[in-house]
Amino acid sequence: MTSRIIGTGSYVPEHSFTNTDMEKLVDTSDEWIAGRTGIRSRRLAKEETTSFMAAEAGRLALEDSQMDASELELIIVATCSAEEVMPNTACRVQQELQAVHAVGFDLNAACSGFLFALHTAHAYLRAGICKNALVIGAESLSRLLDWTDRSTCVLFGDGAGAVVLRQEETGILGLSQFADGSRGDVLTCGNSQNGNPLQETKESHPGKIAMDGQEVFKFAVRQVPACITDLLNHYGCGKDEIRYFILHQANARIIRSVAKRLDVPEAQFPMNMEQYGNTSAASIPMLLDELNRGGCLKKGDHLVLSGFGAGLTWGACLLIW
Ligand code: ACO
Repeated sequence: MTSRIIGTGSYVPEHSFTNTDMEKLVDTSDEWIAGRTGIRSRRLAKEETTSFMAAEAGRLALEDSQMDASELELIIVATCSAEEVMPNTACRVQQELQAVHAVGFDLNAACSGFLFALHTAHAYLRAGICKNALVIGAESLSRLLDWTDRSTCVLFGDGAGAVVLRQEETGILGLSQFADGSRGDVLTCGNSQNGNPLQETKESHPGKIAMDGQEVFKFAVRQVPACITDLLNHYGCGKDEIRYFILHQANARIIRSVAKRLDVPEAQFPMNMEQYGNTSAASIPMLLDELNRGGCLKKGDHLVLSGFGAGLTWGACLLIW
């Protein structure tokens, strides 16, 4: 018994923000951003909250699975940009979808969040704790950016993606996940600190994303191919058996470099960061949904998913569609 993805959904905010719009905010150019990252535009949330986008993506994933929300038993939302600390985003989604029999919690592993949430839900299903799960990656990182820092504000976008998992005989073959806290400082975002009576400052310091881009780049191009290779070897699966490698959409240069290191044609690494930027935990399920709805996935296809991000964290999943 394993778990299988039986449906997908995604949601992006209405408003696009192009590289040309960025040029009006910071000293940058479409040529620099597109050349270094592959990003030309991104969606920015205006009224949309993280929980709203999560629920919309979840609703579409349930529809695609032909499952009623009342049948759901577990909701996990991977996010590092929830609009509230409490209640968790998953409980907001439960209420919005009327998934009255589902238990829900959030999980933060930054850009690896969806992979880690998928792994957690898979473990619940394998252990027989529940029979199905809605796994969502949802982010509004635009609210956490320093909009005067051209080296980070051009990279990210908002959105949500979701999958429904169900206990089945075939589906997910294996997952791996890793963390290296010793290198956590290369990609950070503080939290608001109100202080307490024992602390000098009681001012609020809202967090903003800060990154050593080159260190993140080096980490990703080293660890992602290594963890994919180890996973494939572990399950005795050749890379020629894989139809698509669906990677976190941080940067086209990272993905091209991973393809080269794995010696796999770039065409097997679909990308959509050109339109959406880096949507962190949402990027893998958003791309999976695009491929699913575009008729690109056939039953029986072998897929590899791989995420990497702050923590540092990374991981991969091998599955049969
Ligand atoms: N527009 C124009 N110039 C810029 C911009 C910009 N938006 N941002 C930085 N620059 C300038 C810098 O100021 C610097 O100028 P200087 O040489 O005069 O000092 C120059 O460009 C080079 O800066 P670097 O930081 O060295 O640029 P680099 O080539 O490393 O590219 C980038 C930066 C795109 C972030 C790259 O490091 C990268 O791809 N890193 C991977 C990190 C990533 O994708 N993170 C996403 C989030 S993490 C995740 O999702 C896992």
